[in-house]
Parts: sequence; structure tokens; C-alpha cells
Amino acid sequence: MSKIYISPSILSSDFANLENEIKKLENCGADWVHVDVMDGHFVPNITIGAPVVKALKRVSSIPLDVHLMIENPEKYIKDFALAGADIITFHYEAAKNKIVEIIDLIRSYNVKVGISIKPNTKSEEIFPYIDIVDMVLIMTVEPGFGGQKFMENCALKIKEIKSQLNKNIIIQVDGGINKDTAKICRDYGATSLVAGNYLYTSSNMKEAIASLR
Ligand code: DX5
Ligand code: ZN
Repeated sequence: MSKIYISPSILSSDFANLENEIKKLENCGADWVHVDVMDGHFVPNITIGAPVVKALKRVSSIPLDVHLMIENPEKYIKDFALAGADIITFHYEAAKNKIVEIIDLIRSYNVKVGISIKPNTKSEEIFPYIDIVDMVLIMTVEPGFGGQKFMENCALKIKEIKSQLNKNIIIQVDGGINKDTAKICRDYGATSLVAGNYLYTSSNMKEAIASLR
């Protein structure tokens, strides 16, 4: 059985207490910290920018898993890499004809590369790239907000991508993950799970994180 990397999304955390929130995640067994970056264009919401990632880096001893839900990701990769992102995931839909360029750019900073697809994007569209990234992020909700319902049909993409891989990369799922949907994803072969609402509404973060493994 491969390791499942649990990446709690701080989108649902208390933004007035981010240092404590990170410490809590570390103490509760999180593997990574998932940072949802939204620009108000690629998605309707605006959230966190590179200066906040830089501040998080100062207080985090676990890797920062940065999910860019932004247009023109190539313009901002340098900022997020220098801010201390350990993994940068960009959206296929925002990358247009610059996909390989963006992958190379992220790698040039010695940062791990993820590529993500929204619910309406077919897995076939990213098959040409899956062997040149470190992670594929499959969205199981429309990106933009936490607390939405898991779209089970999107989880089938885990299998589709797995069947095309020639090497071992991480398959991450993001959106509507809880104890039950996590199991569906693990059974299909997911190796990393992002969770926001489920973890932050639970009464025991440690148990909630453990329940996703
Ligand atoms: C959605 C974000 C997710 C979100 C997950 O656009 O990419 O990371 O915070 O939150 P839940 O687990 O609440 O769906
Ligand atoms: Zn995310």
C-alpha cells in the first residue's frame, strides 16, 4: 500500500491565526499544507498570494502544497517558488499552449510540479503531460470555494490517469473529501487527499486526518 499524503486546505482555517493553524496541522499528523491561491478571474473568489505563502514558510516544518487557481500562472510561478512553495500545481485550463514551458519553469526553481484539471476537463487532455510532472490534481468540485459536494464521476479520472502512467507520480484529489469519499478515492488509486471543510468542522482534527488514510 502506498503512502497517502494528507494535505489540509487552510482555506477553511482561521486567517487571523495562521501560525497556530499550521502548528495544529503539524501536531495532528498532516503531511502537507494545502494553500489555495485564487485570483478572482480563473475562479470567482480571491484568497491568498505569495506574501502569505512566504510568511507560512517561516512557521511551517511540513511542505507547502500550493494550488494555483489563477490565469496566466507563468507570470506568478517565480513569486510562489521564491516564497517557499514546495509543490506548485497549476491548472491545465489556465496554461493554454504553455504547459511544457510552465512545467520547466517550476522545475527550474527546484520545486515539485503538479497539473490540475477541473471537473469538466477530460483526463485524456493531460495524458501527454502525466509522465513529466510529479503530481496530478483531480478536482472533484468546481474550484473556487470550500465546502462543496464531492462529484463521484470525476473520481473515475484517478483510474484513467493511473492506467496511462509509465512512472509513479502522486495522484491528488481535491474537493468534498471526507471519510467516505476519501475511501472511494483511495480505492481508485489516489495517493494524496486535500480536505478543508471536513477537517475544520470536525471536533477532533487528529482523528479526522487519520480517518482519511
Ligand atoms: C476548492 C479548493 C479546495 C477546497 C477544498 O476550490 O481547491 O482545496 O478548499 O475544500 P473542501 O474539502 O471543503 O471541499
Ligand atoms: Zn485546492
